[in-house]
Amino acid sequence: MSIQTGRDVHAADITDDDASVQRTTIYVYEAPVRAWHWITALAITVLIVTGYFIGSPPLSVPGEASDSNLMGVIRFLHFSAGYVLAIGWLARIYWAFVGNHHSRQLFMLPFWRRDYWGGVLWEATWYAFLRTEPKKYVGHNPLAQFVMFTVFTLGMFFMIATGFALYAEGTGLDSWQYALFGWVFDIFPNSQSVRTWHHLGMWAFVTYTILHIYAAVREDIMSRQSMISTMISGERMFKDNRDD
Ligand code: HEM
Ligand code: HEM
Repeated sequence: MSIQTGRDVHAADITDDDASVQRTTIYVYEAPVRAWHWITALAITVLIVTGYFIGSPPLSVPGEASDSNLMGVIRFLHFSAGYVLAIGWLARIYWAFVGNHHSRQLFMLPFWRRDYWGGVLWEATWYAFLRTEPKKYVGHNPLAQFVMFTVFTLGMFFMIATGFALYAEGTGLDSWQYALFGWVFDIFPNSQSVRTWHHLGMWAFVTYTILHIYAAVREDIMSRQSMISTMISGERMFKDNRDD
């Protein structure tokens, strides 16, 4: 192994008074999970921005009306990102069956395990700055898993079902979108209600994204284990706790 000095270094060269320490890393997130994460993050960003403008369209655009297809472009981007999101979600569900243990965390809540809820509470106090030493987890921490399952996973099924139901209003009663998602209109009193709930879902995803990015950056700095680079390389690096 070669370091800044340019000379070859072997484990035996590292002495007690050396500032270097050994770290443990564990391979957690496989490539398909990582690729899916970043593609989905991008798709959801596009869906939020374009969805917002579908709900609150710009009042006027400059130039000849016939030269402009602004809302057409916004809707096209929304539907394209919607397809990317839905196909990616199907692939992610498939990967939960064939991938490693951690790829299933997103779809399962250990609801009946007492120690799991203890972990959720513990993490809540850690996030509230009431603890000084972090706990380490190979996969998601219990609180992260709770929010990911209840807001993200359930939210994805909801947004995809209501989104494709609204899409079926354009493609018609004999379309596959209506055959698969037409039942959504049997649950809600009318089409406007589906639209309003789909819109409300956007704000759930906006809130999730803000908290999620805050938590990822915060834990990267404070929890003495790697976070953001873990979603890039797949490897979680553990550093010692200050008391260890
Ligand atoms: C700059 C933006 C983002 C960063 C830095 C980021 C970072 C991360 C990190 C570090 C993890 C792993 C957490 C852990 O190991 O416990 C993760 C997981 C996850 N993120 Fe993000 N994320 C971003 C954007 C998003 C967005 C926009 C969404 C969706 C709204 C999202 C949804 C998820 C989900 C569902 C997981 C769990 C993945 C799984 O178990 O398969 N992320 N993210
Ligand atoms: C997290 C994902 C999504 C978000 C945040 C989102 C957001 C939105 C918002 C805010 C609106 C405007 C509602 C209103 O009129 O006030 C909308 C409309 C719509 N969305 Fe989504 N959406 C998502 C996923 C999808 C998916 C997967 C599809 C499926 C193709 C889809 C299809 C539609 C359709 C067809 C409309 C109505 C368009 C129109 O009337 O011009 N959405 N979306």
